[in-house]
Amino acid sequence: MPLITATFLALALCFAPAPAVGAAATLSAPRPLRGNDTLVSAQGKFELGLFSPAGSSDGRFYLGIWYKNIPGQTVVWVGNRASPLSGLASAELRVSADDGNLELVGRTSDSASPVVVWSSNLSSSLSPGSNNTAEIRDNGNLALVDGANTSNVLWQSFDHPTDTYLPGAWLGENKLTGEYQALTSWRNAQDPAPGMFYDTLDPNGTAEFFMLWNRSRMYWRGGVWTGGRWKGDVGAATGRGTNLYNTTFVDTPAFRGTTTVLADNATITRLVLDLNGQKKQFVWVPASRSWQLFWAAPTVQCDAYALCGTFGVCNQRSQLPCRCPPGFAPVSERDWTLSDWSGGCRRSSPLKCAHNGSTTDGFLALPDVKLPDEPLAMTAAQSKAECESACQKNCSCQAYAFSAGAGGCSVWHGDIRNLEQLFPDSSSPGSDFYLRLSQRALQDLHSVHGKKGGTKLWLVFGITLAGVAALGASVILAWRILLARRRLVVYMENENGSSLAVYSYADLRAATNNFSERLGGGGFGSVYRGVLKQQKGGNTTQVQVAVKKLESLARQGDKQFRAEVSTLGLIQHVNLVRLLGFCSSGDQKMLVYEYMPRGSLNGSFFGGNACPSWNDRYCIMLGVARGLTYLHDGCRERIIHCDIKPENILLDENMSPKIADFGMAKLLGRDFSRALTTMRGTIGYLAPEWISGQPISAKADVYSFGMVLFELISGRRNSERYGEVEAAGTGARESLTFFPVWAAGKVVEGEVGAVADPRLHGEVMPEELERACRVACWCIQDEEAHRPTMAQVLQALEGAIHVYVPPVPRALQRLVT
Ligand SMILES: *[C@@H]1O[C@H](CO)[C@@H](O)[C@H](O)[C@H]1NC(C)=O
Ligand SMILES: *[C@@H]1O[C@H](CO)[C@@H](O)[C@H](O)[C@H]1NC(C)=O
Ligand SMILES: *[C@@H]1O[C@H](CO)[C@@H](O)[C@H](O)[C@H]1NC(C)=O
Ligand SMILES: *[C@@H]1O[C@H](CO)[C@@H](O)[C@H](O)[C@H]1NC(C)=O
Ligand SMILES: *[C@@H]1O[C@H](CO)[C@@H](O)[C@H](O)[C@H]1NC(C)=O
Ligand SMILES: *[C@@H]1O[C@H](CO)[C@@H](O)[C@H](O)[C@H]1NC(C)=O
Ligand SMILES: *[C@@H]1O[C@H](CO)[C@@H](O)[C@H](O)[C@H]1NC(C)=O
Ligand SMILES: *[C@@H]1O[C@H](CO)[C@@H](O)[C@H](O)[C@H]1NC(C)=O
Ligand SMILES: *[C@@H]1O[C@H](CO)[C@@H](O)[C@H](O)[C@H]1NC(C)=O
Ligand SMILES: *[C@@H]1O[C@H](CO)[C@@H](O)[C@H](O)[C@H]1NC(C)=O
Repeated sequence: MPLITATFLALALCFAPAPAVGAAATLSAPRPLRGNDTLVSAQGKFELGLFSPAGSSDGRFYLGIWYKNIPGQTVVWVGNRASPLSGLASAELRVSADDGNLELVGRTSDSASPVVVWSSNLSSSLSPGSNNTAEIRDNGNLALVDGANTSNVLWQSFDHPTDTYLPGAWLGENKLTGEYQALTSWRNAQDPAPGMFYDTLDPNGTAEFFMLWNRSRMYWRGGVWTGGRWKGDVGAATGRGTNLYNTTFVDTPAFRGTTTVLADNATITRLVLDLNGQKKQFVWVPASRSWQLFWAAPTVQCDAYALCGTFGVCNQRSQLPCRCPPGFAPVSERDWTLSDWSGGCRRSSPLKCAHNGSTTDGFLALPDVKLPDEPLAMTAAQSKAECESACQKNCSCQAYAFSAGAGGCSVWHGDIRNLEQLFPDSSSPGSDFYLRLSQRALQDLHSVHGKKGGTKLWLVFGITLAGVAALGASVILAWRILLARRRLVVYMENENGSSLAVYSYADLRAATNNFSERLGGGGFGSVYRGVLKQQKGGNTTQVQVAVKKLESLARQGDKQFRAEVSTLGLIQHVNLVRLLGFCSSGDQKMLVYEYMPRGSLNGSFFGGNACPSWNDRYCIMLGVARGLTYLHDGCRERIIHCDIKPENILLDENMSPKIADFGMAKLLGRDFSRALTTMRGTIGYLAPEWISGQPISAKADVYSFGMVLFELISGRRNSERYGEVEAAGTGARESLTFFPVWAAGKVVEGEVGAVADPRLHGEVMPEELERACRVACWCIQDEEAHRPTMAQVLQALEGAIHVYVPPVPRALQRLVT
C-alpha cells in the first residue's frame, strides 16, 4: 500500500531557535554595534547589522534586518535606504549620548570623516535620554526603548517599513504625526533606495489600500475594508492568505490602518512590494528550503504601471518583461540588467521635424499592442491616412492608432508609458500602434531585417515609410513568391512504420484558411482549425485537423526539430491526442493534430451550462489517468507532460478524454518552463517544486492531475475564490480560500459530499466520490515522495487498491484553520 506510507511530519516546520552565540541582545550608549557586529533577537529569528546587497561589489553598506536562520540573506528592513556607507571600518550604530536617538554613523563616498547617515530622528521632547536601549525582537521589529521605563517604546522599525510587511507590523497612517506606514519598492536588486512603486492606505481617508506609481498614478486598489475582510478581496493590504493570519483594521484617534496576527507562530511569511511593482506574499517552506510564492497582486506583472518606463514595451510572456521597441534603446543598460526598467527607452536616432511641418519621419506598426491610456488625444480624422497625417504634421506627436469603429483616430504627444505586447490569443484583443520613428531609424531597421532576418518578434512589424514605397513593393513581391512555392506532401517514415506527414507552410496556410479559425492557445502557440485533403485509393477525403503554430521554436534547427517530432509521432494511445504531421519551413514550425470536436474540458465543464453526469466525470478521470500512466510508464522514454490542466484535456465525440500538448517540454527545452511560468492561469496547477526550482519529476504531473480531479469533482475552477458559498451555507466563516485547500480539509474530515458539484444534486456514486476525493488529496501532497505514481492513481480509481484517508497537504494545511 504505497499510497499510505507517507507519515506526516510537522517537525520540519518548526523553526529551531538557535542560540545567538557571541551576539549582543541589546544595544545602548556604552555598547554600540560596530563594523560587522550584529544584534540577534532572543529566539534567534532575526538579525540586525550592516549588509551589502547581494551581487553588489561597489562597497555600499546599509543598516538592515534579515532572517537569521534562512539561507541567503533575506532583508526585511533597511535604515539608510538612500544614503549608504562606503565601508564598515568606522561604522557604528549607537544610542546617541546627546539625545538618546538611535543613529548610524560612518564614512560615505562624500565624506572621509564619519557622519550621521541615519537617525531615529526623535525630537528631544520624545526621547528622554541617553539611557535608551535598542533591541531587535523575534517578530523582526527593531525597537528603541526608554531607559527609564522599558515598556515605553520610543521608536520602532515597524513604524517605518521599507518594502516588506511582516506579520504583527502595521500599515496605515499615524494620525498624530501624519506619517504613513507604507511600502516602497527597492530601486533595483542592488539598491534599496526608494523605487517607483508605493503601496499605501488611501490618503483621502477610506479604508482601502492603493498601489501607486511615482506616488501619484494609481494602478491597483485592494478593495475597501468591510469589517472582517477586504471587499472583493482582490488581494487586500496584507495578503489574501486570510487564514494565514487574522487581519484587523482599526481607526482610532492615533492610528488608522491594518495589522495582523499569525494563526500559527511557526509560520514564516513576508509580504514584499517587489521591483516589478507587485505585492508578493511568500511563505518559507523548510522542507524545500525555499520561499514559495503564495499570492501576488496585481497578478499580471504588466499591470504594474509604467513598469518598462517611457517607450518600453511590457511582455507578459517573456522572462524579462521589458523590451525597447525597434529604433529605441534602454536609457540605462546597467539599470536594465539590474531589473530596473523604470528609466525606459530612448530613440536611437532623433526625429527630424521642422516647425513648419516638413518632416521625413515615418511610422512603424507595432501589432497586437495594448494602447497606453495617456497622454492620449483624439482627432477628427476619418481614415488611417488622415490620422497618420494628423500625427505627422505635429512634431510633438509620437504615435497614433486608428480603428474604423468607435475608437477613431487617437494620437499621443509626449512620453508614452505602459505599452504592452499582447498576442493573437490574449484575452483582450490588441490594436495596431503606429510609433513615429526617424527616417534613419526606419532604414536601419530595414537593413537589419534584410541582413539577419531580424529578431523573430519584430519581423512581423510592417514598415510604413512615406516615400519608400518601392521597398514595400519588393517585400510584398518576395512574400508572394514564397507563398506560391507549394510543395507536395512528403511522408516521413518512422522505424516502426508509423508515418508523419510533412507539410509545407503554404499547405497549412491554405488548410486553415490563412489561420482564420483559432481554437485556442497557450504560451507555446496558437491552435487553428483546418481541413486537409487526403488521397486514399482513388478518392479524396477531407480530414479535420488542429494546427499548432509553435511560436517559440523559430530558432530551432530543422534537423533537431524533425528528430524530436518523429519521436512524438510514435506516442499513440487512445487517451492521447494523435499527432498526424508537422511543418518545418524556416522559422515556421507547426504540428498537425487530429481534431477534437468537443474541445477541451475547460469549455465543456466550466463554460456555459453543461453539467456532465457523475459517470461521465468518472470516465474522464479514468481516461486521463490512463493517458498519463502511458506517458509516464508506457513509452520507451518517460514523458513528463508538465502542463496538465483542463485546457489540455480534449474530448472526442464519445466524451472520451485525450491529453493534448504532451512532449512540449522536450521539444521546447529551456523555453518550456519559461513559457509555463509566465502563462496566466497555469500557476494553480504547478507543483511546489516548480516554484521552488527543484528538479521536475513525473510527480509534478501527479500534482496537477490532483488539481484537475478536484475540478472535475466539484465542477468549479480551483482559481475561483471560495468562501461566499460557504458563508451562505453555514454563515460560519467569511474567509476566502483557494478551493483545493478547503476541499482537502473536507476530504480529511470525511465530508466528501460537500466537495461534489452541487449541480449534481447528490446524484453521485458515493464510493467513487470518496475514492476520487482521497486520490486527489494524495496527489497534491507537497512532498513528491508522498504523492502516488500515476499507475497507483489508476489502480486506486479503478478500485483495485484501497485508499486511506490522506493528510491535508502540508503547505496548505496551515491555511485551513
Ligand atoms: C568582521 O570583520 C573583521 C575585520 O574587519 C574580520 O576579520 C571578520 O572575519 C569579520 N567577521 C565576520 C563574521 O564577517
Ligand atoms: C530628521 O528630521 C528632520 C526634520 O524633521 C528632517 O529634515 C531630516 O531629513 C530627518 N532625518 C532623517 C535621517 O530622517
Ligand atoms: C540613567 O540611568 C542612571 C542610573 O540608572 C541614572 O542615574 C540617570 O539619571 C539616568 N539618566 C537619565 C537621563 O535618565
Ligand atoms: C511606562 O510607559 C508606559 C507606556 O508608555 C506607561 O503606560 C507607564 O505608565 C509607564 N510607567 C511608568 C512607571 O512611568
Ligand atoms: C483624493 O481626493 C482628491 C480630491 O477629491 C482626488 O483628486 C484624488 O484623486 C483622490 N486620491 C485618491 C488616491 O483617490
Ligand atoms: C515623479 O513625480 C515627480 C513629482 O511628484 C516628478 O517631478 C517626476 O518627474 C516624476 N517622475 C517621472 C518619471 O515622471
Ligand atoms: C482571530 O480572530 C478571531 C475573531 O476575532 C478570534 O476568535 C481568534 O482567536 C483570532 N485568532 C488569532 C490567532 O488571533
Ligand atoms: C505567538 O507568539 C507571541 C509572542 O512571541 C505570543 O504572545 C502569542 O500568544 C503567540 N501566539 C500563538 C498563537 O501561539
Ligand atoms: C520647412 O523648412 C525647411 C527648413 O527648415 C525647408 O527646407 C522646407 O522647404 C520648409 N517647408 C515648407 C513647406 O515650408
Ligand atoms: C501639436 O499638438 C500639441 C498637443 O496637442 C499642441 O499643443 C500644439 O499646438 C500642436 N502643434 C501644432 C503645430 O499644431
